[in-house]
Amino acid sequence: MSETDSPRGRMDVAAVIAAYRRYAGFYDFVFGPAFRWGRRRSVARINTLGVHRLLEVGVGTGLSLPRYRRDIHIVGIDVSRDMLAVAKRRVEEERLANVDLLAEMDGEQLAFVDGAFDAVVAMHVMSVVPDPQRCLAEMQRVCRPGGTILICNHFAAGSEKWLTRRLEPFAKWLGWRPDFALSELLSGSTLDVTTNDPIPPFGLFNLVILRNG
Ligand SMILES: C[S@@+](CC[C@H](N)C(=O)[O-])C[C@H]1O[C@@H](n2cnc3c(N)ncnc32)[C@H](O)[C@@H]1O
Repeated sequence: MSETDSPRGRMDVAAVIAAYRRYAGFYDFVFGPAFRWGRRRSVARINTLGVHRLLEVGVGTGLSLPRYRRDIHIVGIDVSRDMLAVAKRRVEEERLANVDLLAEMDGEQLAFVDGAFDAVVAMHVMSVVPDPQRCLAEMQRVCRPGGTILICNHFAAGSEKWLTRRLEPFAKWLGWRPDFALSELLSGSTLDVTTNDPIPPFGLFNLVILRNG
């Protein structure tokens, strides 16, 4: 069975860790530019919200970290120790004193108390985690009531099917499911969608803001 051949067409956590062990060394070079718009717009949005305590799930190599306002206290988690090693180097080199913690942790089992954060963000992660609904439920649990959850991700929309088809081999390599829809992520969730905006290039990604209650 290949690493993307799980029953739901997703990688399991061990396969995610193995995959990102391979990608960590060149991730910034390839995916830095490829995901730049989503990352920049997501962080710009967070910076306007008056957030004090922020959790970033699937922080990866920490490309977003230098862009947050320095008065936001950030905790970043990821299952990949190799991706986190790059993020830790970045925090040291750029002297990001507002990054309180970078921890190896599964987004589906967050080791934080309920309501610990004002906002929780996941960029380009929901298509990768083995159980995205469970991850979203955990993000909601650790977000304070009235807080914000921001998801930047590719969601199947129908209008860009030709492009999705072209990206399929690339998506498979990343362990993505290109047919993953926002409605599937939100099925059974009590979160309210505040905004859902397409992101360049070609509106292939969406920036979705959800309000916790
Ligand atoms: C495509 S990368 C995105 C990294 C970063 N957010 C960015 O925008 O560049 C996906 C990241 O999600 C992480 N990830 C996948 N499943 C996870 C899980 N269950 N819990 C935490 N992190 C996870 C991977 O290890 C990887 O670092």
